[in-house]
Amino acid sequence: MWSNKLLLTTIASLLLQTNAHTPYQYSQALRARIYVTQSTVADSYDFVIAGGGLAGLVIASRLTEDPNTTVLVLEAGATGDAVGDSINPPVGTYYNSLVGTSYDWQHVTTPQQNAAGRTIRWPRGKVLGGSTAINGMYYVRPSDIEVEAWKGMLNSDNAAGLWGWDNLYAAMKKSETFTPPTPDVETTGNIQFNAQSYGAAGPLHVSYPGFMLSVVGNWTPSLEAIGIATAADPANGKNFGGFVSAVSINPTNWTRAYSKSAYIDPLPPRSNLDILVSATVTRIIFNGNNTSGDQIASGVEFATSATGTKNTVKVNKEVIVTGGALGSPNVLMHSGVGPKDVLDAAGVPVVVNLPGVGQHLQDHLAAPVVWQSKVETAGDIHASNSAFSKQAQTMSFINSAIAYINASTLFDNVAEFEAGIANAFNTSVQSLVHSQSSEVIDGYKAIYSATQNFVTQGVGLIELLLSINAPGSITIQAALQHPYSQGRVYINSSSAFDPIVIDPQYFSHPADVVVMREGIKLVRQLGSAAPISNALGAETFPGPGVSSDQDIETWLAGIVSTEFHPQATCSMLPRSQGGVVNANLQVYGLANVRVADSSVFPLSFSAHLAAPTYGLAETAAEIIKNAYKAPIISNNTAGPASQTNPSKGKNNALAFATWSKKETILATIALAGIIMLVC
Ligand SMILES: Cc1cc2nc3c(=O)[nH]c(=O)nc-3n(C[C@H](O)[C@H](O)[C@H](O)COP(=O)(O)OP(=O)(O)OC[C@H]3O[C@@H](n4cnc5c(N)ncnc54)[C@H](O)[C@@H]3O)c2cc1C
Ligand SMILES: *[C@@H]1O[C@H](CO)[C@@H](O)[C@H](O)[C@H]1NC(C)=O
Ligand SMILES: *[C@@H]1O[C@H](CO)[C@@H](O)[C@H](O)[C@H]1NC(C)=O
Ligand SMILES: *[C@@H]1O[C@H](CO)[C@@H](O)[C@H](O)[C@H]1NC(C)=O
Ligand SMILES: *[C@@H]1O[C@H](CO)[C@@H](O)[C@H](O)[C@H]1NC(C)=O
Ligand SMILES: *[C@@H]1O[C@H](CO)[C@@H](O)[C@H](O)[C@H]1NC(C)=O
Ligand SMILES: *[C@@H]1O[C@H](CO)[C@@H](O)[C@H](O)[C@H]1NC(C)=O
Ligand SMILES: *[C@@H]1O[C@H](CO)[C@@H](O)[C@H](O)[C@H]1NC(C)=O
Ligand SMILES: *[C@@H]1O[C@H](CO)[C@@H](O)[C@H](O)[C@H]1NC(C)=O
Repeated sequence: MWSNKLLLTTIASLLLQTNAHTPYQYSQALRARIYVTQSTVADSYDFVIAGGGLAGLVIASRLTEDPNTTVLVLEAGATGDAVGDSINPPVGTYYNSLVGTSYDWQHVTTPQQNAAGRTIRWPRGKVLGGSTAINGMYYVRPSDIEVEAWKGMLNSDNAAGLWGWDNLYAAMKKSETFTPPTPDVETTGNIQFNAQSYGAAGPLHVSYPGFMLSVVGNWTPSLEAIGIATAADPANGKNFGGFVSAVSINPTNWTRAYSKSAYIDPLPPRSNLDILVSATVTRIIFNGNNTSGDQIASGVEFATSATGTKNTVKVNKEVIVTGGALGSPNVLMHSGVGPKDVLDAAGVPVVVNLPGVGQHLQDHLAAPVVWQSKVETAGDIHASNSAFSKQAQTMSFINSAIAYINASTLFDNVAEFEAGIANAFNTSVQSLVHSQSSEVIDGYKAIYSATQNFVTQGVGLIELLLSINAPGSITIQAALQHPYSQGRVYINSSSAFDPIVIDPQYFSHPADVVVMREGIKLVRQLGSAAPISNALGAETFPGPGVSSDQDIETWLAGIVSTEFHPQATCSMLPRSQGGVVNANLQVYGLANVRVADSSVFPLSFSAHLAAPTYGLAETAAEIIKNAYKAPIISNNTAGPASQTNPSKGKNNALAFATWSKKETILATIALAGIIMLVC
């Protein structure tokens, strides 16, 4: 329904515009909505962006604000326009999900030894917008303590000042337009917010659902009843405690707000931005090194399928890798940049031996406790199929009642827990890190030590999440936020089309199962606290049979699943600690390649990953723009900081010379496209 209407409206407005414009402008208007094809891709671009997900589209949109900068985005998936019914109405994420379809990479982990030998599904968006096209739309900021701890790990990097809470906070705000909840939703849900803590003029809509259920309003009072304070202003770096989170939805039409709807769809025509879908990046091509010995990327190779023709596009300035926590290390390794042992075994020639690529993988783990519901849930409303259930406001309901819980609440004896972590670490570091590289092991230790510090601070070790989207039942999940277990991703073939191997090594560190166990006990305590206890009937899962610490740990091993927040596989850390990028997001050993997405956060956050990734991508765009800013001629030597040497990226006049010819071809192709769509 949505997509057809949207399509017809789009086509109608295009046709209307056509009559009023010259042929040249007509092609420009089409270019805002029609993507390039393999045959209309130009020979070269200033920047080639590998991956059109959250970060890739933010960066593409920002870089092409300068009409002189040309950008090509290569995205392995489709546009998503054919599945607007699943993407646009928020309710689609629960009942009409793209998870498990061709819009999902459908990754699966290796069997997890400490999780009952299970393989665990890891969905990831394979579509423009990436995982933001299929995610749960929770929009949650990390805490200032965590973001500062990440900055603290960059001590030896003279660009560390680009990061830290103040900068990331400003960058997240830059991406947002915040709309407060309606008074009715605010009251019913007991929602806490401070509009000043959000942005007011950015591309991404951040708001609350247009419909709220009273059981959500029970959330913060029930938490308070068990001693967990409410976070009055969770977006300002103090996310500790209970709250009903903001969500990434557009309240003007109650649709999902994601990187494509925010940063690409509303753009005026931009002839300097090309987006090619169904284009999997198979490798970065290098051609020589600069005098410091750093390899220079000269182009990017891509293909539609494993057996399809490989095409190449030249890059004048830089390659920006934005394939996400799995896609980015995959692209680097297939380009010969990664751990030598992994590349040798996969048959990929080594360009740069960078042992940290794919390492330091951290993920949030979640487990549910389920009760019968005594009240109407969002799942009941959906199942009723009533006219009310089909209203846009009703369909915008998203579970977003959460809480971040610290060690003092989880443990009677925090000191004992701390001692336990230290012991386990001291005796088994080699078995905890699947790498022979001393750099990677040092990185593990650095991350471990930063994580340990959170135990004595007001940082959420566990997240609690209320979910009411099933009929007849209510679920509260506990989710591990600061894993001590680190895993890795690696390639085991030379084809970029073979799936990357994912081994998160869940529960390889025993502290993780202990923290989760205490989280599950807290969930049960919450379930028996008024007022939410009045909405809950009998516990149906795991049920009273699972009660001792040992029972809970065994049950957890058989049930835990990902909260969909993998990160750190291209960590921003010193090279001596298995880092992959420096604070300027530049890959060590490469002259003109950056990674700029959720794979670079070296340290887990108590947050869902989209908000910090929007902030990271906005910052990346600023860093890149500054690096290529024309030198400002002035008698003041303290001009804007340029973190890299702009001279290495010479503008290629040829790209512009060929451009107008390409425009003409495009207009013809695009027209043909429209006619096919109408038919
Ligand atoms: C089911 C699910 C639910 C989630 N729920 C939430 C939530 O409620 N709130 C929240 O904040 N976060 C949530 N997340 C996480 C969040 O969406 C991601 O952390 C975020 O999108 C990461 O952004 P990214 O740019 O790093 O990667 P992505 O957004 O995943 O983008 C990577 C892009 O690169 C493309 N790509 C990969 N490899 C290649 C290649 N070789 N060639 C070309 N293209 C390639 C992919 O197709 C994809 O489009 C969820 C994720 C999932 C999967
Ligand atoms: C674009 O380049 C042209 C020619 O080099 C120059 O005159 C113009 O000022 C540039 N525009 C911007 C916005 O940099
Ligand atoms: C929702 O509204 C925005 C404008 O705020 C528009 O760009 C977008 O296309 C609309 N979405 C749908 C699915 O109609
Ligand atoms: C850099 O290039 C030179 C000349 O092509 C070559 O001799 C040298 O081995 C290269 N250095 C590295 C580190 O790749
Ligand atoms: C663990 O090792 C650190 C040094 O790496 C040491 O300071 C600490 O005392 C050790 N802890 C235990 C419990 O052995
Ligand atoms: C953890 O939270 C409680 C309130 O829930 C607070 O009293 C305590 O100081 C916090 N602990 C730390 C270490 O910050
Ligand atoms: C790569 O690993 C996967 C998952 O473990 C496995 O299914 C596949 O057979 C492996 N491929 C090769 C070539 O070893
Ligand atoms: C080579 O590239 C690296 C990374 O961009 C850069 O730091 C270095 O200054 C470059 N060397 C030269 C001589 O340009
Ligand atoms: C140099 O800078 C000073 C102070 O900013 C300014 O007053 C002066 O006009 C500048 N001179 C030139 C030549 O730009």
